[in-house]
Amino acid sequence: MSCHLDISHIDVVFPTPKGPFTAVQNVDLQIQQGEFISLIGHSGCGKSTVLNVVAGLNQAHKGGVILNGKEVNAPGPERAVVFQNHSLLPWLSAYQNVELAVKQVFGHKSKMEQKEWIEHNLNLVHMNHAMDKRPDEISGGMKQRVGIARALAMKPEVLLLDEPFGALDALTRAHLQDSLMEIHADLGTTVIMITHDVDEAVLLSDRVVMMSNGPAASIGEILSIDLPRPRNRVEMANDQRYSQYRSAILSFLYEKQRKIEPLSAKQTKPNQVAVA
Ligand SMILES: Nc1ncnc2c1ncn2[C@@H]1O[C@H](COP(=O)(O)OP(=O)(O)OP(=O)(O)O)[C@@H](O)[C@H]1O
Ligand SMILES: [Mg+2]
Repeated sequence: MSCHLDISHIDVVFPTPKGPFTAVQNVDLQIQQGEFISLIGHSGCGKSTVLNVVAGLNQAHKGGVILNGKEVNAPGPERAVVFQNHSLLPWLSAYQNVELAVKQVFGHKSKMEQKEWIEHNLNLVHMNHAMDKRPDEISGGMKQRVGIARALAMKPEVLLLDEPFGALDALTRAHLQDSLMEIHADLGTTVIMITHDVDEAVLLSDRVVMMSNGPAASIGEILSIDLPRPRNRVEMANDQRYSQYRSAILSFLYEKQRKIEPLSAKQTKPNQVAVA
């Protein structure tokens, strides 16, 4: 049976002044419709590179990505991306930022239908009260909410999230994780989310894909998270399976793929190293 999203044996090679650099090699992952996948791994291992191939922003040098039987080779609204730092247009209100995406995909619909759809998506992320505010008038968490609303407004089949909550404080992050879990439960959109946060990965995912260190990084291990939904973060904190999943990821990151790299020159005396 063909799968929903097939990331099939991809290699990505970047040209550099020192010659070709193989960032990822033979990354192979089959994803079912509605699955929530987290990609985790040390900085620079190639997570964004893989996500960008699925987004159509990077080209694979070998292998490819197939969504519902069609090869992906350019960006498209059925694969919406949300980056760590919101990419909202600063001179437009939250409403107008979402409207841009809606016009692109649903421009053929009536003005009234478009308005309802924009408001519906701002409502999903609890931003309808501030839809007339510009990005510089709202908080970082609110900007990410608008970014998510804009992505959802394209009615994507796959939502691609590159550390969407990475720049937020812990409480705002927790609120947005809960919102994302609710949206995922309601819409059943397939999600691939990059994160550095082990708890976030376990709480949100059906499977956590752990990448080995680069160059030529690949998938090291895949952990299926067999916890019932809806998941409650407070209950999970006392759940033994939750702790085991957490330990398995920590062990992968800090024992099996332990990464040692120099601190920045400012903080480091010669020969000093830090464990990432
Ligand atoms: N356009 C490019 N040209 C050359 N090398 C690149 C390019 N993009 C990424 N790389 C290299 O590919 C490797 C993987 O980068 P990538 O951004 O995918 O890592 P990452 O896992 O997303 O890291 P982080 O967690 O820090 O975001 C890195 O060594 C990076 O320097
Ligand atoms: Mg990245």
